[in-house]
Amino acid sequence: MPHGVEVALACVLLIAASVWVGGFVAIAVVARVTVRTLDPSARVAFFRALGRSYLIVGTTALALALGSGAALAAGRPWDGTLTATAVLAAALVAALAFGVLQARRMTRLRRDALARPGDAPLAARVRRGARSAGLLRASIGLLSLAVLVLGTIQAA
Ligand code: HEM
Repeated sequence: MPHGVEVALACVLLIAASVWVGGFVAIAVVARVTVRTLDPSARVAFFRALGRSYLIVGTTALALALGSGAALAAGRPWDGTLTATAVLAAALVAALAFGVLQARRMTRLRRDALARPGDAPLAARVRRGARSAGLLRASIGLLSLAVLVLGTIQAA
């Protein structure tokens, strides 16, 4: 691959990965802050709007990062590290898709729970859902870090 193309792909990879990881960390901080600063119905409305807008920015950044990373790796021999990176990247995309569907379900569930404050089984479903959403978000974060570390090992 010509050196100029390689440099351009590396720039895209670095910027897109920064946006993906930076956005993820920023949303995690925002999520904590909104627990203290917004009432529950305002928080649901806020995340509904933020989640939908960030879905475009976040998935575009992730697609650019994975696409440019794949293009840079294209000429390399297919070894164990590359296989592990590809498998973890596929798991990351699947976890994100699943996470988005789950987040939408959580928004609906939280709205229903706000409309029916005395419904104890519904409140229990919200708590269970929030726990699994938290676990899924943590695994998206860990998978992102793992892909980034493996990618860096291959670039070094
Ligand atoms: C960077 C990748 C992320 C994307 C693309 C994303 C996308 C979304 C989407 C599409 C929704 C659903 C909005 C709707 O109701 O239609 C949502 C909701 C939500 N997101 Fe995210 N999100 C991301 C990261 C995070 C992180 C890191 C956190 C917190 C640690 C978070 C916390 C939430 C919360 C609290 C909701 C509301 C639903 C609930 O109560 O679980 N998100 N997000």
